[in-house]
Amino acid sequence: MCASPVASMPRSVPILASAFTKAQWIPKFIKPTSVGVKREEYTIDCTRYQKNLGSNTELKSRVDDLYHRIGLVYLTNTGTKDAAELQKPFDRILGTGNLYEGGANPRSAIEGNVYDTGVSMESFVHYHHEMAYVDKSVKNVFFTCSELSPGVDGSSYVSDNIRVTNALSDTVLGRKLREKGVCYVRKLTDRKHFQNLPQIGVYNHWQKSFLTEDPKVAEIRANERGLRVEWGRDRLMITKYFAPSYEYCPPIDRNLLYASMADHSIWFDTWPLVEQLPQEERPLKMTYGDESEFTDSEVAQLVDVYDDFGIQLDWNPGEAAIVCNFRFLHGRPIIKLRSGEVRNLGVVLGEFFKRQGPLPGKW
Ligand SMILES: [Fe+2]
Repeated sequence: MCASPVASMPRSVPILASAFTKAQWIPKFIKPTSVGVKREEYTIDCTRYQKNLGSNTELKSRVDDLYHRIGLVYLTNTGTKDAAELQKPFDRILGTGNLYEGGANPRSAIEGNVYDTGVSMESFVHYHHEMAYVDKSVKNVFFTCSELSPGVDGSSYVSDNIRVTNALSDTVLGRKLREKGVCYVRKLTDRKHFQNLPQIGVYNHWQKSFLTEDPKVAEIRANERGLRVEWGRDRLMITKYFAPSYEYCPPIDRNLLYASMADHSIWFDTWPLVEQLPQEERPLKMTYGDESEFTDSEVAQLVDVYDDFGIQLDWNPGEAAIVCNFRFLHGRPIIKLRSGEVRNLGVVLGEFFKRQGPLPGKW
C-alpha cells in the first residue's frame, strides 16, 4: 500500500483494449485492506440473535450505533436467507426501501423492494455512490447475499470516502473537482427501436429507467430529478445533470466527495456489447461542470485513490450489509462463474434525499 495514496505516477496502468477503445482503467480491488476500518469494527455476529433477528432490540441498537459511528454494518451468521427478514434490523436506517426508478442501469425486482444489482458478472463495477448522477440520491444502500456457490469469490468492495476525500483535499484534482463540479451525460435507448435489433450499445432503455412507455412522462420524471433532456435519433433520450462534486454528509457534519469514475465512459471498459464503442459514443459520460474532459492521468488518479481505501465484503449466503452512501462507495471485480454456479446479491435503496451540494464552512 502506497503511503501517499495520490502518487504523481498513476498505478492504474491503462490497458489497450482494441482498435476502438483507447484504454481501460481497471480497479485492483485490493485485499485485504491494511488501512481504515477493520472487519471486526463493522461486523456483527448474529448467532445469538437468530431466533428473533427482525425484532431483537439489542441487535437493532448495535446496528444503529455502528451505522451512526462508521456508516457500514455487516451481519454474519443470521440463520436466514430471507431478504425481507434480513432488512428488519436495519428498518430504522433504511425506512421502507425504494423502487429503483430513474436509475442509470437496468435492474429487475427479485421480490418486494429487493432488486438485483443490475450489472453483468462479466463486467467489473467501479467504486461509486448510488445515484450520484440525479438530484435525488439515496442515503444508504442495503445488500443481501441470497446465493453463492461454494468456491466462488463473489466479493463486493466498499471504499472509505472520508479517507478518499482527505487524500484528495490538497491535490490539484481535488481543488478542480471542488471548483468546477461535474456534468453527467446519459444516453438511454428506446426499447421499441431495439426490439428486433442486436443490442449493441444498449445499456438501459429509458422505459426501464423511468418506468414508463411514454416519452413525455419519462421527460417529466427526468426533469423532476434535475436532468436536462434532449432527444436524439431513434428516440434516444440524452440527459444532462450538472452537479457539485461534493455533498454535505449530515451524519458527520462535513462535506465529502460525491463523484466517481463509475459515471465516466470508462464504466464500459469490460461491458459486453458496449466496450467496443469509442468513449464518446458510450451510454454514459462524465465531464467537469464546464464540460471539459478529465485527463487520462486524472482518471487514473481517481481510480487509484478509491482502491487505496477499499474494504472487502466477502459474502456468504444469508449475510447482509448496509452502506452509508456518503461515507462509502461500493463496487466489485468481475465475478467468474462456471456453468451451474450462482452469485445472487439483492439490493434495496434507502431513503431518498435531495442533493444540496457542499455547505460553506463544512470542509
Ligand atoms: Fe451500486
